[in-house]
Amino acid sequence: MAEQIVPFPYSYSELEGEDKELVEKTIAANPIEYVRVGPKGYLIFKPYLRDAENVYNMPLRPSDVFVASYQRSGTTMTQELVWLLLNDFDYEKAKSIPLVARYSFLEEFMFIDYEKRDIFIANMKKTDPNFDPSNLLKIAEMFKIPATKKLAKTPSPRFIKTHLPMSFLPPKVLETAKVVYIAREPKDVAVSCYHHSLLFKMQQFSGGFKEFWNLFHKGLFSLTPFFEHLKEAWNLRHHPNMLFLFYEDVTKDMPAAIRRIGEFFGKTFTKEQIAGLCDHLNIKNFKNNKSVNNEELRDTGMFDANETFIRKGKSGGWRDYFDEEMTQQAEKWIADNLRDTDLRFPTHK
Ligand code: A3P
Repeated sequence: MAEQIVPFPYSYSELEGEDKELVEKTIAANPIEYVRVGPKGYLIFKPYLRDAENVYNMPLRPSDVFVASYQRSGTTMTQELVWLLLNDFDYEKAKSIPLVARYSFLEEFMFIDYEKRDIFIANMKKTDPNFDPSNLLKIAEMFKIPATKKLAKTPSPRFIKTHLPMSFLPPKVLETAKVVYIAREPKDVAVSCYHHSLLFKMQQFSGGFKEFWNLFHKGLFSLTPFFEHLKEAWNLRHHPNMLFLFYEDVTKDMPAAIRRIGEFFGKTFTKEQIAGLCDHLNIKNFKNNKSVNNEELRDTGMFDANETFIRKGKSGGWRDYFDEEMTQQAEKWIADNLRDTDLRFPTHK
């Protein structure tokens, strides 16, 4: 029987006025537009809409593994952990094939609008007259093809990374595939997102952290509203094909997290295997691991010299960024958003 295509069920609206101006501060040189999608109003790059229906209707396989999260919540660490557990701890292969090639990033294509590549290059040259566009052009060329197209030809088992909310994924994703979702305390997520936006010159944020935080918690940053994203996944946590993790738990007791993730995939491990994986994932080693740290992107001229993709990797770093007033505001925002749910961060129990 032929697959039935269901339209992507959400409408979108363009940003206007002050919201548009504020949001554009987080995109800088990238001539891309944001739109708000669906009843929860997720903020997403407009090119996503070109493939939204294909993602929503993506043919799934029982062996598919999704690693999902709100960005900067420990996705990369979880991807590497899950991949190694499901590939017999094949560290050689993990070192020789970059993580970006072992996982398909579902919405990656939306970050560069191929049609606007010339404007993009001109903008980059304005900030850096020596900017060499050849690598950016190569990436833009790659990003032309959405992951759904590539995934159709990818042999099983397929490993898929996404920062999309659960409601954007195929409605039957949990009936067929497995999803590991990782969540993190939002003040630390905001700090990490801030540094991430400094890392990529193309979306380098011009304000300081206070201004960034304002945008983040008001739902004016990519894929916010943050709590809606988390709550969608949290509400599915009891499904046997869904594993909901907290960054704080995984990093505090990694052996326990490895056993739990193993159990989810029906696997058990020796103490030595677990110790070896903990060492591999230790932030000091992970930061220098060329297969996961994305340092190859530095050659594109798109990275800021003072920032790295894998950064501090600790919990509670927000304290260096929030003053008393911001802390109070943040805690109120968290409390208000947790009122109607039993979702609790390990830091707030
Ligand atoms: P910080 O910026 O707070 O250091 P993602 O992979 O979802 O983009 O998340 C990135 C965050 O996870 C960054 O947080 C990064 O340093 C941290 N991280 C990455 N690998 C880690 C590891 N092996 N252990 C602990 N934290 C890690």
